[in-house]
Amino acid sequence: TGAITLDPGYKNSGSCKSEITFLDGEKGILRYRGYSIEDLAGKSNFIEVSYLLIFGELPTAAELDKFENTIRKYTLVNEEMKNIIDGFPKTAHPMGVLASLTSALTAFNPKSADVNNEKEMYEAVCKTMAKFLVIATWTYRKAKGYPLNYYDNTKGYVENFMQLMFGLPTAPYTPDPVVVNALDKLFILHADHEQNCSTSTVRIVGSSHAGLFASISAGVSALWGPLHGGANQAVLEMLEEIQANGGDADKYLEKAKDKNDPFRLMGFGHRVYKNFDPRAKIIKKAADDVLASLGVDDPILDIAKKLEASALEDEYFKSRNLYPNVDFYSGIIYRAMGIPTEMFTVLFAIGRLPGWIAQWKEMRVNKEPIGRPRQVYVGEQLRDFKAVNER
Ligand code: CMC
Repeated sequence: TGAITLDPGYKNSGSCKSEITFLDGEKGILRYRGYSIEDLAGKSNFIEVSYLLIFGELPTAAELDKFENTIRKYTLVNEEMKNIIDGFPKTAHPMGVLASLTSALTAFNPKSADVNNEKEMYEAVCKTMAKFLVIATWTYRKAKGYPLNYYDNTKGYVENFMQLMFGLPTAPYTPDPVVVNALDKLFILHADHEQNCSTSTVRIVGSSHAGLFASISAGVSALWGPLHGGANQAVLEMLEEIQANGGDADKYLEKAKDKNDPFRLMGFGHRVYKNFDPRAKIIKKAADDVLASLGVDDPILDIAKKLEASALEDEYFKSRNLYPNVDFYSGIIYRAMGIPTEMFTVLFAIGRLPGWIAQWKEMRVNKEPIGRPRQVYVGEQLRDFKAVNER
């Protein structure tokens, strides 16, 4: 078998060839299918970007129409799924519920792993885009004790997210267009990020020919952790804690530098961006715009700005190339929009969904082999077995 190269955390190992996302961590470049993230966030919209990631080209008007309508066709979720949701306590974390519900979709769509031709692939893609959005919002509705909402076929995908989350049967609901636009942009910025932890998980699970729902359920679990998607919730909780303790940002900066303290500055640092995170730049501007147009004056934002300014001046952070990442500012916008903190990572998952789907599809279409890393064994050599009374 030859010598095994050890690379914990896969810091220098490529797992696949991909045509989806280009990333240059040194220069802070991010492109989907060759289009710059700045252009896409400024000129496109989430559903178009989803199509681009999954199918490789920006859609024509007819292709876009078909995509949106096919998604609409699949937005009904089996009513029996409600029995499963009812089994969860209201206090359950929505990411755990979302992973379970995504997995449960396999039971109601038993043929979901059958994707043997383009038509089946197209249907699987649209089904996943449709049902995942609905169940993601149901995790919140359940926690609140509200009736579960249905997708409104007269509205767009991102508008539907707001409607599914906040619409009540007792009054008409029209989401604020400022919020819808900002959310659309945030989803675009989160839509793909090459072989990150959750995406690699989706690809490796899918490499055993598990279906999309099963693979994406695993991706949700991977995203949940605080070092990955869970960071957006952790950032806001950290800022709230700083505020509750008198607003001394510098004290927390010192804590983050102390190697005997496990605390890390949430929303700082990135495995591949070592100069700046291009998404953070766009989000910072969007946060200012959204807060201004919603008339929100949030003291948390001042703490975030102070923390950022101090860290950027600090030798520890400078020498390790630690800069604010995408999640440093996203939580502040979500909070201004009225999204509860424990839903932040669910929003990341909705944004990342087209990326997961695109990567899963690429892996299947390219007929990649099953993912199966090797190891270097460092345990005991052969030992004699001792019966329990001799140990
Ligand atoms: N606060 C304090 N020190 C840090 C931080 C931080 N946030 N991030 C890294 N370091 C230090 C780390 O202690 C190490 O120091 P030393 O060389 O003295 O041992 C050095 O910087 C390199 O860190 P690393 O852990 O080897 O880097 P990594 O590439 O393995 O980790 C990371 C990347 C994002 C997991 C890490 O920076 C981190 O934990 N950040 C906080 C969590 C976070 O914001 N995650 C969201 C990432 S962006 C969204 C996403 O992709 O999900």
